[in-house]
Amino acid sequence: MSKKFVIAVLEGDGIGPEIMAVALDVLRAIESKSDVEFEVQHAPFGGKAYFDTGDAFPEETKAICDNADAILKGPIGLSFEESKKIPVDKQPERGALLPMRRRYNTYANFRPVYLPPELAHFSPLKPHVVEGGIDIMMIRELVGGLYFGEKERGERNGKRYVRETLDYDEDQICRILRVGFDEAMKRKKVLHNIHKSNVLISSVMWNEILDEVAPEYPEVEVRHVIVDAAATALVLNPRQFDVMVMENMFGDILSDLAGGILGSLGLMPSACIGTDASYYEPSHGSAPDIAGKGIANPYSMIGSVALMLEKSCGMEDEAQQLWGAMRGVFGEGFTTADLRDPEGKLDPISTRAFGDKVLARLDG
Ligand code: IPM
Ligand code: MG
Repeated sequence: MSKKFVIAVLEGDGIGPEIMAVALDVLRAIESKSDVEFEVQHAPFGGKAYFDTGDAFPEETKAICDNADAILKGPIGLSFEESKKIPVDKQPERGALLPMRRRYNTYANFRPVYLPPELAHFSPLKPHVVEGGIDIMMIRELVGGLYFGEKERGERNGKRYVRETLDYDEDQICRILRVGFDEAMKRKKVLHNIHKSNVLISSVMWNEILDEVAPEYPEVEVRHVIVDAAATALVLNPRQFDVMVMENMFGDILSDLAGGILGSLGLMPSACIGTDASYYEPSHGSAPDIAGKGIANPYSMIGSVALMLEKSCGMEDEAQQLWGAMRGVFGEGFTTADLRDPEGKLDPISTRAFGDKVLARLDG
């Protein structure tokens, strides 16, 4: 009997439905080549879900996600103007995405920063800086820190004030550091620890815990880099990094910087691994300005499928086939109009056509 995985599919907002449609075709192609069956269950999530149901993360969606083996999520979010029609705490980010992270305790966010030679032309960095390709795994803690600490707003001495707290306990820090060490063991055995211990006592404690965990991984060399210096180093010499581990807010910022190194956040898929469920999503937003035009590249969504196959379905070979197929399509000089093409040498095709070329390579 074939193995079956139930996949909750949340297509999201903006370009979400377009890139998800292509990603699901790719998933079907993988299914037809393997003895695995994917049962896809669609559910509303994000801004459109709010307008349709009054809730950006409806109960129905929670039930479907609770029972799934993995969650495949498209980008969510609305234009600035559309967002203003929704109360602040119900907007898709605060009303759906953060509650999803909290619900499934998705503490380990994997953000591959991958620039193989076939994609090198997208990077705004000089060829000699990216020569040989970039392959970094950024690991971001995803359910602690400033995002989830206590918050308050009020008035004192006749002036408004606001307070947000950066909160971690030692178990939260320890488990994400272990994810970093484990990933380093699978790769080059070098772990870049990103911190700000010259200012934040949260980083002082983070580094203390790292010193306690490190002896369990005697083969891994730890290199400490302060977060602001890491931002500079990533631009000057990204090839020095392999696995990087960091707290939530640092990871939010540095992973977008990494998207800039690649030339687009459209080249950034991600995996959010939790204790209670895992979900897979592009790191970028819903790009409402280009929604419906058929010009969004599906790479980040298909890459998220690849991460799902690897991490939730034990299908490492199939995941590699997806990366290879997408690299091949870029290698032939194809692109989509949303990705930068500074030299104007690339051949822009539609979202769907790009997906078809990926499918053709999977069949071939
Ligand atoms: C990301 C996004 C989210 C974050 C937003 C949409 C809440 O920027 O996944 O990086 O800040 O974590
Ligand atoms: Mg972000």
